[in-house]
Amino acid sequence: MAGISDTETIPLARPEIGAREEELVLEVLRSGRLSLGPMGERFERAFAEWLGVGDAVAVSSGTAGLHLGVRALGWGPGDEVLTSPFSFVASANCLLYEGARPVFCDVDPGTLNLDPAAAADAVGERTAGVLPVHIFGYPAAMPELEGLAAENGLGILEDACEALGAVDSEGGRVGARGNVATFAFYANKQLTTGEGGMIVPSDAEVAVRLRSERNQGRAADMGWLDHVGLGFNYRLSDLAAALGVAQLEKLDSLLAGRAKVASMYEEGLACIDGLRMPIAGRGEEVRSWFVYTVQIPQGVDLSATVARLAALGVASKAYLPCIHLFPHLRELGYREGQFPVAEAASARSLALPFFPSMTESQVARVCEALAQSLR
Ligand SMILES: Cc1ncc(COP(=O)(O)O)c(C=O)c1O
Repeated sequence: MAGISDTETIPLARPEIGAREEELVLEVLRSGRLSLGPMGERFERAFAEWLGVGDAVAVSSGTAGLHLGVRALGWGPGDEVLTSPFSFVASANCLLYEGARPVFCDVDPGTLNLDPAAAADAVGERTAGVLPVHIFGYPAAMPELEGLAAENGLGILEDACEALGAVDSEGGRVGARGNVATFAFYANKQLTTGEGGMIVPSDAEVAVRLRSERNQGRAADMGWLDHVGLGFNYRLSDLAAALGVAQLEKLDSLLAGRAKVASMYEEGLACIDGLRMPIAGRGEEVRSWFVYTVQIPQGVDLSATVARLAALGVASKAYLPCIHLFPHLRELGYREGQFPVAEAASARSLALPFFPSMTESQVARVCEALAQSLR
């Protein structure tokens, strides 16, 4: 892929696509097996092996994975599920698809993940589950949330869409704790298939259900026009799976590249007063660097900062808006002021350009532009 010149705007994200991706995509094209072929199974096996789990089910997006995860947990009308308001909207929408209600709880100010104490306070008669999001690739407090779930008989669906490669407080890979967990492979993710996702099933029975529901409700041994139940077309094409196989082969180096860029940022931004940088880890916890998001100094206008950076040739984004304040969630009664930690983080969070092949001079350009924009 061609590089970015010194005068071009530095983009927010950039996939790392090379000769191996081209080779495997060509292999699929020449095989004539564009869907439900061997490349899909190869991707699933390689992914499960990398993560250290027994099985993994490929789907067309992270959102599709979350939706099937909600169905696998049996959440529906009348059920409430505890989740984070500081997330991408899909982690709440997947509950709405099935008529379940997202019950938002505030986040921990350090990790920006669901605060287990806030979640414990929100448990009620209708609570059926908890849906932690490993936001910005930082591992959620799983042992605490699993304790809460066990005490109250709740199911768990992990939104690990941003967290491939993260390590939790007990030293295990995020998504490998035996809960249903979902990953996403959009073009800005640590591993990309363009569009795509992967679900880690909690057991073999769930895996069978997921494979049937992603494929229009067909059973494994059925013909194209036979169906055992309701299903969806959430299949991942073999072309996308080919990208996934190639990306998995170099995933360790992609993750290391992201960590290196993060440490360059940490050094380059240290001189800006009042700027809060993301933590890389704590104890056993290790972030998988999905985005590089800083919290700008208190009182500075976020959208004005984005505009100043754009004028200096640096893409950036206010990231993330709180999801309880979107119109369709306000309809459930959510309002400003309910989750002060999440709302304060949201008002200050700014994503900077971030991809493994970023050079030192590009990082320096972003740091200088940010310093200038905040002066
Ligand atoms: C936290 C989170 N959940 C869910 C998703 C949905 O994934 P997808 O865009 O592949 O549907 C994303 C993707 O950006 C995400 O960041």
